[in-house]
Amino acid sequence: MNTLAPGATLGVIGGGQLGRYFVIKARQLGYAVWVLDPDATAPAMQIANVALVANYDDAKALSQLGDACDAVTIEFENVPAKSLQLLQSMTQLAPGPASVELAQDRMLEKQKATESGLLPVPHVSITSQQDITRLGSDVTFPAILKTSRLGYDGKGQRTCNTRNELALAFSEFGAVPCVLEQQIDLAAEVSVVLARGFDGSVAVFPVAQNVHREGVLFTSVVPAMQPSIITANASAQAQSLAHAIEHVGVLAVEFFVAQDGTLYFNEMAPRPHNSGHYTLDATLCSQFEQQVRVMCRQPLGATDLLSPVAMVNLLGDLWVKKSPNIEHLFGSRGCHLHLYEKAAARAGRKMGHVTCLAGDNVSALERIHEQFEAISGN
Ligand SMILES: Nc1ncnc2c1ncn2[C@@H]1O[C@H](COP(=O)(O)OP(=O)(O)O)[C@@H](O)[C@H]1O
Ligand SMILES: [Mg+2]
Repeated sequence: MNTLAPGATLGVIGGGQLGRYFVIKARQLGYAVWVLDPDATAPAMQIANVALVANYDDAKALSQLGDACDAVTIEFENVPAKSLQLLQSMTQLAPGPASVELAQDRMLEKQKATESGLLPVPHVSITSQQDITRLGSDVTFPAILKTSRLGYDGKGQRTCNTRNELALAFSEFGAVPCVLEQQIDLAAEVSVVLARGFDGSVAVFPVAQNVHREGVLFTSVVPAMQPSIITANASAQAQSLAHAIEHVGVLAVEFFVAQDGTLYFNEMAPRPHNSGHYTLDATLCSQFEQQVRVMCRQPLGATDLLSPVAMVNLLGDLWVKKSPNIEHLFGSRGCHLHLYEKAAARAGRKMGHVTCLAGDNVSALERIHEQFEAISGN
């Protein structure tokens, strides 16, 4: 396969903010971009060269996309397997169906991580009430029940303190296949975003340290405030996983750091990731440009950090009661405002984010908290 030069046409399935930055970077580099999403007003659809309004399993639209595009990618992992297979038969697809299907299922993902030498949180598969009755001591309470498929931003998860609570949660989830995980006493959460090319070359971004609120990413700070043995280990483990699954494209791997320093694999995303947004403003090449480079078989970009940086997500909650005080950011040195042009603000919906570059990670994090307080009017 040859490289794709600027002027070629790329496609992305999914029109959210991750797709939007992919479009921005691809078009900046001179590529045309088609986006497929059921919502004509979705953030990436607004700026696509061609916006295909269709469901993710619409064979006709997928064929149009496959015909028109020299390479296709995804911005979220829950694209139906059949759709990926269809595209795979028509054009270059990155990532390939195998790593996407792995990331769609928490149980499979944990199995693969274990085979690749990573250490998932202690867990068991729960597919029936009998599994709950027979529960051994591999996982003790409190534990978190997670649906194996279709969870995101803390959705499809329930903390359980007793076997009865677990049985109730399982039936409330509709008795779908689940994973029960040990709840870890977290010292920190870190994530690694990397890109892997068709040729197996890898470029890893600096490790981010993340704080979640109610299951949704709140802040990231880079460099992570963790001993280098932990960040180096996370980085090495993410690379092992990428090679083991022969991933092609951007891959994000989330880890838990337990109080005793154990590094646990949490989950992976076969695409650019919210915790990698800082790369838009603070690294030589961003995670989104990296996705374009992979698809076009161009050399991977350099991932050096230009400045310590912190990021905060702006959720719809900020807009629900009153307008947030966004404009003061224009007067804040080193701060970058990103809004995704989503029409309606709903609680929990990601509307934008802010990054703040500073002399060191402690000041960057302090400043991002100050900015967030000012934005929310507290
Ligand atoms: N086993 C666990 N122990 C402690 N905290 C957890 C555990 N699982 C999830 N969490 C918390 O919930 C967040 C979201 O869970 P995650 O499994 O990453 O699901 P999602 O797909 O929604 O991102 C995590 O980032 C972490 O803060
Ligand atoms: Mg997660």
